[in-house]
Amino acid sequence: MIDEKCKVIEHRELGSGYRFISFEAPKIAEDATPGQFVHVRVPGLEASALRRPFSIFNAEEGRLELLYKTVGRGTAALNGVKPGDVVSVMGPLGHGFPLKCGGAALLVGGGYGVAPLYFLARLLKAQGFSPLVFVGGRTKDDLLALDRFEALGVEVRAATNDGSFGAKGLVTDPLDDELIRLKAANEKFELFACGPDPMLKAVALRATGTGSKGWISMDRHMVCGVGACYACIQKTVRGNSRCCIEGPVFAAEDLVW
Ligand SMILES: Cc1cc2nc3c(=O)[nH]c(=O)nc-3n(C[C@H](O)[C@H](O)[C@H](O)COP(=O)(O)OP(=O)(O)OC[C@H]3O[C@@H](n4cnc5c(N)ncnc54)[C@H](O)[C@@H]3O)c2cc1C
Ligand code: FES
Repeated sequence: MIDEKCKVIEHRELGSGYRFISFEAPKIAEDATPGQFVHVRVPGLEASALRRPFSIFNAEEGRLELLYKTVGRGTAALNGVKPGDVVSVMGPLGHGFPLKCGGAALLVGGGYGVAPLYFLARLLKAQGFSPLVFVGGRTKDDLLALDRFEALGVEVRAATNDGSFGAKGLVTDPLDDELIRLKAANEKFELFACGPDPMLKAVALRATGTGSKGWISMDRHMVCGVGACYACIQKTVRGNSRCCIEGPVFAAEDLVW
């Protein structure tokens, strides 16, 4: 784990409260694996609540990229950071996704939960896998990074609650269509998911229910980010686990909902 002083390269609005920020972060970028997160010290917040956790959207050639949604005080304060500013970023933290897959790699993201899936798709693809990405949101404005997946040559299947892009309904609808197809073809698969809790539970149950592997990235409120405060507890079959240390990615069969 590194506490790196990172210069902001780019910071821009993506629409609907989502933003993209990139940093010069050669040390973190070199160590990072998909599903890990960074704890960003947000300028302007008081000492007791300085940092906020964000998934690593991409780490490449010394650059660290994040996607975030403005939801409260910390993320609103982060909006004010400008290119050229230097920000303290701690990471990479936690346990990420495995980088191998016994069967079809099905990646499922909801809202900003798509953030760690781009990095994962890129590295799985580099190893010869053909990840298939399912993204969901309330409207088309909640579907992030579609251009980046397209540039990567990764197939994306989208669903929106209002039908403004992709299938109308939940992200699990196109996922279920694919699971039916794989079952008929007697093909194995693994699920990798990040997003809101109800979506994660639905994906985890599809993994455990079919005896398949599922890798679920849990989003819990964090304070220290390094295992000391126990703010980020997730119930597992082994008892209480800290999301920042034992997670944020857990095996689906280990999670207690
Ligand atoms: C491992 C991990 C990875 C994350 N990756 C990303 C990411 O890539 N992009 C992104 O936009 N966000 C991500 N988050 C969530 C992000 O950390 C929170 O949105 C942020 O900390 C909120 O800070 P705030 O001060 O703006 O909001 P606060 O003022 O603290 O809270 C505003 C509202 O958001 C809720 N909230 C706060 N933290 C969380 C949380 N962790 N989960 C759910 N609700 C929360 C609060 O209950 C409140 O309703 C991640 C969280 C974790 C734990
Ligand atoms: S955030 Fe402090 S133990 Fe996880």
